[in-house]
Amino acid sequence: MANKIKSVFVCNACGYENPKWYGRCPQCGEWDTFEERIINDEPASISKLKSNSGKRGLAQQIKDIQSDGEHRYLTGLSEFDRVLGGGIVKGSLVLLSGDPGIGKSTILLQVCQHLGENLKILYVSGEESAHQIKLRADRLGVDSPNVFIMSETDVEIICEHIKSDKPDLVIIDSIQTVMLSELSSSCGSLTQVRESTNFIMRTAKDFNIPVIIVGHVNKDGNIAGPKVLEHIVDAVLYIEGERNYNYRILRAVKNRYGSTNEIGVFEMLDNGLREVLNPSMMMLEGRPKNSSGSCVACTMEGSRPILAEVQGLVTPTSFGNPRRMTNGFDFNRMNMILAVLEKRGGYFFANKDVYLNVVGGLKLLEPAADLSVALALVSSLKDTVVREDVLAFGEIGLAGEIRSVSHCEQRIREATRLGFTRVVIPKDNLKSVSKELQKEIEVIGVKYISQAFDAIIN
Ligand code: TYD
Ligand code: MG
Repeated sequence: MANKIKSVFVCNACGYENPKWYGRCPQCGEWDTFEERIINDEPASISKLKSNSGKRGLAQQIKDIQSDGEHRYLTGLSEFDRVLGGGIVKGSLVLLSGDPGIGKSTILLQVCQHLGENLKILYVSGEESAHQIKLRADRLGVDSPNVFIMSETDVEIICEHIKSDKPDLVIIDSIQTVMLSELSSSCGSLTQVRESTNFIMRTAKDFNIPVIIVGHVNKDGNIAGPKVLEHIVDAVLYIEGERNYNYRILRAVKNRYGSTNEIGVFEMLDNGLREVLNPSMMMLEGRPKNSSGSCVACTMEGSRPILAEVQGLVTPTSFGNPRRMTNGFDFNRMNMILAVLEKRGGYFFANKDVYLNVVGGLKLLEPAADLSVALALVSSLKDTVVREDVLAFGEIGLAGEIRSVSHCEQRIREATRLGFTRVVIPKDNLKSVSKELQKEIEVIGVKYISQAFDAIIN
């Protein structure tokens, strides 16, 4: 008698499982996200994984566990390597994700070129034909003889090829376009994405082959079936970028082999992505001179300080309710800063429209950017120019005090490197700044907003 097929319904937004179908997910509240998943083949996959992990039920002392260290492949793109924590770890499964057209296929093909000098790479594309990839490779100058392109969507055929050919690295572009033919659900569905990933992972782990999987994001900016995939893989990388700017930021959201704090900055050119080793300089390009309402901020992206110009524009309002707009900074946080400036600083914005923009499309998420935002706004309100060689950072409290921030010395060093001659920092941070550094650049510690404003104009 044939086995009864068991199935479970899974929310493809949050991964919630239930034996019954729901119109609305009880966990995340999303509508129409439940999909049926067959669980018949699950025991096989679990037993296979267990068999790989040595004797069952045996606990070992941590010092007795054999480790041969981790072997990493350097990709030749130092920004890419840094985000991964120092290169691709042998046997790891990496998910690379981002909006369509952001440059996922481009960066991976570039990675192939350098790695292909010594390693055999299998690049599987379910999206583009081999001919299309060749055209792109020509544009990027990728011609390594060890890079093999396969235009295929059937996961079993792909895995057969991996088994017989044993490449050193496999790239799957993209997981939403490959499928297991035995599953009835359509290509790109949660079931297909999850089972295909599992299938590929098992094959690759058997031979200790690292795999990079490309995953598309859905309209909410999540990878389709996000929770499911993020749990399975070892590292999740995102490529972000603004439509109107050429630069792209590569970020690790999860990394079992390194920190998730690092970012890599790239610029999209005609011949592919180029690493940007000096992002601050790029962000500050074209800064207007002697113009009010502009102040430079310093934000930490992982362990890296990046400078960005904050522009404020304050104009008399012609509406009943003045307009407020922000770009690259939290709207509510700007309103809070405006309130503090009114109440504690005596700067009145009540009958003014206020616009705030972070130039270059960078997002300032750190409270350390508060002070430069406040200074840009006050500078525009008073029509006073902020000295162009001054940088300011600090968190603003509700009492109008400037509070200390992290990584103070690193931020000051970045300012020094880019030719700034004065930094305005929270007074509490001043004691942590070394005397040597203070000789290189004038460091002014301030306790209140009004002091900061005095320090940046004269
Ligand atoms: P692609 O890598 O195909 O994006 P994804 O795989 O993430 O969907 O990138 C496509 C975009 O990049 C496309 O809009 C054109 C642009 N591009 C360049 O500007 N220069 C280049 O050298 C290449 C290959 C692409
Ligand atoms: Mg692509």
